[in-house]
Amino acid sequence: MTQEPSHADHSTHAAEEDARNEAIKIYVNGEIVPKAEAKVSVYDSGFMLGDGMWEGLRLYDGEWAFFDEHMDRLFNSLKSVSLDSGLTPEGVRDILDRTAAANGITSDAHCRLMITRGRKAKPFQHPQLSRFGPTVVAIIEHSRPSEAVQAKGIRLATVPQVRGLPMSQDAKYNSHSKLNCVIACLQAEQAGADEGLMLDPNGFVNTTNACNFFIVRRGEVWTSTGDYCMNGVTRQKVIDLCMENGIPVREKNYSLYEAYGADEAFLTGTFGAQTPVAEIDGKRIGIHEGAGPMTRRIRALYKELVAEDVAKQKAARG
Ligand SMILES: Cc1ncc(COP(=O)(O)O)c(C=O)c1O
Repeated sequence: MTQEPSHADHSTHAAEEDARNEAIKIYVNGEIVPKAEAKVSVYDSGFMLGDGMWEGLRLYDGEWAFFDEHMDRLFNSLKSVSLDSGLTPEGVRDILDRTAAANGITSDAHCRLMITRGRKAKPFQHPQLSRFGPTVVAIIEHSRPSEAVQAKGIRLATVPQVRGLPMSQDAKYNSHSKLNCVIACLQAEQAGADEGLMLDPNGFVNTTNACNFFIVRRGEVWTSTGDYCMNGVTRQKVIDLCMENGIPVREKNYSLYEAYGADEAFLTGTFGAQTPVAEIDGKRIGIHEGAGPMTRRIRALYKELVAEDVAKQKAARG
């Protein structure tokens, strides 16, 4: 029996198949070990409670794009939950560089860096039980975003799961607990879509379960106010690029009415950069197959920005 392709094969995190990923080496607490041996305790705070923070970074030509911005977010999150990693941003860079080198990877790679409160003395919630120091893991995979996804675009379904207020669990925490997003993704999948479009507590369009969300209307680029979504590095770069290149850009409240009537829509994230949206709730967005002209323009500007950042980092390292 042939298996139906799952929605995961057509999501914003869909990558071209790469058999080399079976043989990668993974950093686990100071050691770089084969994938099959990369393990953490069942008592780990991340496993038990989702008590940890992570970052997704991309490697281009030997450099981690927008490294400082990723470290700003990570260290802000760690500080906010009093999780002392014992690391500095330069220490993190050393871990990532050593792991990439151990795998012979210099480009077209994605890293999931995870820092949890570490192993617990007992299987209960209190952070004081996490007394053996943090768990640090870096998984670096060969990764090229799926061309089929770029060519066809993503289908979104608006889901009942909303983004919460910041005083419950602030969406700016890139925490191991992604249950809010996972529920949204399940709801989208069950509605026959690839990814969930999430509203804010007031019913305005906010973000998707895994990416930030933009629409293009009558030559303007709109995204949410940023109040209930991940403070995406790519999101901010797109806003900055629009401002620097004379493209009108607005962070504002807007409803599904305006999203359905958009000329283009796209998602942003480190993994896929800018991914076109083909439809929302069964309504086709725009007249283009794949990315529309504004999305293409922003993609090109973003690609140049990555190249500039990589060149700057190389020059700074000497
Ligand atoms: C829920 C969510 N939204 C958006 C993003 C995109 O953020 P970035 O552009 O920094 O990769 C992420 C990535 O971690 C995320 O988890």
